[in-house]
Amino acid sequence: MTAAAIDAPFSPGLAGVVAAETAISLVDGANGVLLYRGYPIVEVVRTGTYGAVLDLLLTGEWHAHATLEPAPVPADVLTALRLLPPGTHPMDALRTAVSAWGAMHRIAWPPTAEQARELIAFAPSALAAFARLRQGLEPVSPQPGLDLASAFLQQLHDAAPDPATARALEAYLMACAEHGLNASTFAARVIVATRSDLASTIVGAIGALKGPLHGGAPAEVLGQLDEIGSVDRAEAWARDRLGRRELIMGFGHRVYRAYDPRAAALRVVAEHLPQRPPWLDLAIGAEEVILRVFAEVKPNRVIKTNVEFYAAAVLQGVGLTPDLFPAVFGIARMAGWSAHAIEQAAVDKIIRPEARYVGPAARHLPGA
Ligand code: ACO
Repeated sequence: MTAAAIDAPFSPGLAGVVAAETAISLVDGANGVLLYRGYPIVEVVRTGTYGAVLDLLLTGEWHAHATLEPAPVPADVLTALRLLPPGTHPMDALRTAVSAWGAMHRIAWPPTAEQARELIAFAPSALAAFARLRQGLEPVSPQPGLDLASAFLQQLHDAAPDPATARALEAYLMACAEHGLNASTFAARVIVATRSDLASTIVGAIGALKGPLHGGAPAEVLGQLDEIGSVDRAEAWARDRLGRRELIMGFGHRVYRAYDPRAAALRVVAEHLPQRPPWLDLAIGAEEVILRVFAEVKPNRVIKTNVEFYAAAVLQGVGLTPDLFPAVFGIARMAGWSAHAIEQAAVDKIIRPEARYVGPAARHLPGA
């Protein structure tokens, strides 16, 4: 260890440390702004497609109606999925599918937009296939002509979804496609910076996203709403939870000190679902109360609603079970992870921070 490393400032959680330069997205936490290559997230979600967002993030070009043709699950990947116990978490199944795909393709470094498209085209099919296999059902192939979101729902339920439901899922995929140097994206950049391949990069990123503090929150939001039950009980529930120093999922963010613009976009999507989820009014009412309690109990920390709160509403509203939520988030975020992988590979500089050593001073083993 060098003397410089010992003297360097230590920032727990790397908060405030700039570890990369990026042209992919701007997350302006103070003002609640998220831009994908300069374009506001609300405009992107309102007018784009997931294929367009993927192209934008990967290449910087915007073609509003671009589509990514869904691909069937390669036979060897399906074989790997069939070996998983039915109780496997879908996030682990998605990670396994990408890993098996990487083993088959043996793709080269540096990552390319074409590799990313190929990976993302099959990932929803793999998740849908596993969701069927674990119920004892045979996987079905993507129906030609469907976009990625529609084909995912079609492969899940063996029936094409109505366009409004598919569009709601597509809006979710767009809103969650990219978000700066969050934990999983940082993990992706660390892996690709060693000149490892895109599949390994995405596998590692899925692992980082799996944690409840990152991608696991929306499923827990539903459990919280079940506990709250009715808006008039929200205040007592929130006070009790904060009093026990427990987290309230769907609130708080490392970067945002304003309302998460993705939560705003997804709330609109949730309110326009063809079948309004029965608990959406509870969510809207409870949110207002919880924000008020946070402002009172944590006056020194601005804690607002994050994307996961309304993500839960949208994903439940399009007919997904809560244990699928993190994996669907992972599929959305594969766009951002891949774009960052390409950007980081162009820098071609290994990421290697220092640790401050706080262990024992040099000493000798007994008898040595
Ligand atoms: N519920 C209760 N208290 C909270 C919450 C919350 N949701 N968020 C922050 N706090 C409290 C912390 O306990 C801490 O209190 P203290 O100072 O008394 O110890 C204070 O606010 C500061 O919080 P930090 O943990 O320092 O904030 P940080 O920026 O490190 O964490 C995080 C951000 C992890 C998202 C946090 O807000 C959290 O755990 N939220 C709940 C989980 C969640 O919704 N995750 C999804 C995030 S969005 C995404 O990843 C896509």
